Amino acid sequence: MNQKLPIHIAIIMDGNGRWAADRNLPRIAGHRAGVDAVRRVVEDCTRFKIPYLTLFAFSTENWNRPQSEVGGLMVLLDQYLKKELRTLMKNNVRLSTIGQIDDLPANVRQTLRDVVEQSAVNDGLNLTLALSYSGRDDILEAVRRVATAVQKGDLTPDAIEPDTFSSFLHTDGMPDPDLLIRTSGEQRISNFLLWQIAYTEFYVTDKLWPDFESVDLLDAIKVFNSRERRFGKTSEQIRGEDT
Ligand code: FPP
Repeated sequence: MNQKLPIHIAIIMDGNGRWAADRNLPRIAGHRAGVDAVRRVVEDCTRFKIPYLTLFAFSTENWNRPQSEVGGLMVLLDQYLKKELRTLMKNNVRLSTIGQIDDLPANVRQTLRDVVEQSAVNDGLNLTLALSYSGRDDILEAVRRVATAVQKGDLTPDAIEPDTFSSFLHTDGMPDPDLLIRTSGEQRISNFLLWQIAYTEFYVTDKLWPDFESVDLLDAIKVFNSRERRFGKTSEQIRGEDT
C-alpha cells in the first residue's frame, strides 16, 4: 500500500444489535458476527503492518445490558481468545488489555491472562482489547495515582507534564491513536479513550460492525491520508516541515 499508515488505529465496534435486528435474529447473533469482523480486522492490521490496534469490546456501561446479553458476550470473548490463540501466535500478535479486568468473570480473566502471557513474546501487531473500560475512570484513576505520588513526595506538581500524566493511564507505553473508526453512523465517543484522542482523526462509517470488511479499513486509511494533521499549527507551517 503506497500510503502513510496510521501507527495506532482504535475502533468503536458499534451496530451488532442492529445487524441482528435487521435479520430477525437475537442480539447475540449480531455479536457472534461481530467476532468474525474482529478476526478480519486483526488479520488485516497484521497484513498491513499496523503497529497498534485497540478495540472497544466492552464498556463499563455495557454491564447495564440484560444479563443474558452480558453473559453471552463473555462466552464469546472467552471462545474467541481460546480459538484464536494459535492464529495470534502464528501472526506474531501481542495481546494486552485496558479497563477494569477484575470486573470480568474468573474464567475470562484466566483465559486473558494465558493469552497475554503467551503472546508477550510477540513483536508484531499490538492488539489491545478495552474491556470494562471507561475513559473517565481511566483519567480519574490516573489522577488518584498522581495525587498519591505527589503526597508521597515521588512527584512534584510542576513535573506533571502531558507525557507524565499519560504514563499513569491504562494506555501507558502506547502511542495515542492516529485514527479512530466508529461503525454504524453514530457520531460520539461513548466514554472511550478521552485523553488519548486529543489529536486523533475520526472516521465514521454507516456500515454496521459485522459488515465491516477489508475495503472499509482501506477506505478509512485512505481518508486518514487525505487529512492534513496540523496539531494546532497552520497549513503553511506543516508544509514547511514536510520539505
Ligand atoms: C456494540 O454493538 C458492540 C458491543 C457492545 C460489543 C462488541 C463486541 C464484539 C464485537 C464481540 C466480542 C469482542 C471480541 C474482542 C471477541 P451494539 O450491541 O451496541 O449494537 P447496536 O447499537 O446496534 O444495538
